[in-house]
Amino acid sequence: MGNHHHGHDHQHDHSTDGLPDLLDLDAEVLHAYQAEFITEVAETAGEEPRRILDLGSGTGAGTLALAARFPAAELIAVDVSPDMLERLRAKAGHAGVGGRVQTVPADLDEGWPNVDDVDLVWASASMHHVADPVRVLRNALGAIRPGGLIALVEAAGMPRFLPDSVGNGVEGRLHAALAANHAEEMPHRGADWGPLLEKAGFAVVAAPHYRINLVAPLPPATPRYAHAVLNRMRTGLHNRLSAEDRATLHTLLDGHGPETVLERDDLTVVGDRTAWIGRRQ
Ligand SMILES: C[S@@+](CC[C@H](N)C(=O)[O-])C[C@H]1O[C@@H](n2cnc3c(N)ncnc32)[C@H](O)[C@@H]1O
Repeated sequence: MGNHHHGHDHQHDHSTDGLPDLLDLDAEVLHAYQAEFITEVAETAGEEPRRILDLGSGTGAGTLALAARFPAAELIAVDVSPDMLERLRAKAGHAGVGGRVQTVPADLDEGWPNVDDVDLVWASASMHHVADPVRVLRNALGAIRPGGLIALVEAAGMPRFLPDSVGNGVEGRLHAALAANHAEEMPHRGADWGPLLEKAGFAVVAAPHYRINLVAPLPPATPRYAHAVLNRMRTGLHNRLSAEDRATLHTLLDGHGPETVLERDDLTVVGDRTAWIGRRQ
C-alpha cells in the first residue's frame, strides 16, 4: 500500500463513488475563500489572464469561477476522469461559458497533455494526487508564458462540521485515522508546496492562508456537504473504526430525525486552505 500513492484515482470511474457530487457541494459551500484567492491571483497577475489551464479540474469548481472572473479568458480543464469532465462541460454550458471552456482528458502521471502558452495554471486539491508533483510542476512551468502564474491550493484535511460532544468526539477520530492513511498513500497531502514550486523553477510570490469558519446562516448545501464528507470518510476507513463509532455514524448518516447530519441545527464548517502563487520569471 505504502508505495502506491493514488490507486483510487486510477479507477477513473467516479460515476458511482460520489466524488463528483462531493466536489460540486464543496464548490457551493466553500466558494467564499476561493473567490478571495482568485482576487489575490488577479491582483498578482496585473493584467487579465487570457488562457487558463485548470489541472485536475474535477467538476470545474475552479474552471467556472475563473471563467466568471475573467470574461475574456479561454479555459482548458484537464482531468484523468472523463466523468468529471463530462459534468464540467454540462455546468459550463448552463453557465453560458461552454464556448470558452475546453476539456482535455489526460493522466498527468503519464505525461503532459498538449497544452502550452498559458497565462495562468490553476491547481486546486489536485497536486497531492500525482505521483511526482515536481515533474508535473516543471511541465506546468514549461507551459506558462514568461511572467505567467501558477496558483496552487491545498487543504490540510477535510473540513469539520460537528461539535466535539457528538459521539464522544467521533469526527476527530475519523480525521486522525484518515490523516494516518493519507500519510501512507499521499505523502504530498498537507506538504509545504513553496519549496516544491521553487524546485520546479517557479519564484513563489505569495502564500496566503485561508481560515474557513462558517456559522449560521450556513450555505443551504451545508447539510448535504457534511453528509457527503462524513460518508466518504466512513467508507474509506470502514473496518478501522470501532463498533461504537460505526454505530454513531450509522445514526448520524443513515438515520432519520433531528440527530442526523441532514437535520441537526448545530453544524458549522471549519477548515483551512493554504495557497501559493508562483511566477515563471
Ligand atoms: C480533490 S479533486 C479536486 C478537483 C478540483 N480541482 C476542485 O478543486 O474541486 C482532485 C482531482 O484530480 C484529478 N486527478 C487525480 N490524479 C490525476 C492525474 N494523475 N491526472 C489528472 N488528474 C488527476 C481527480 O480525477 C480529481 O478530479
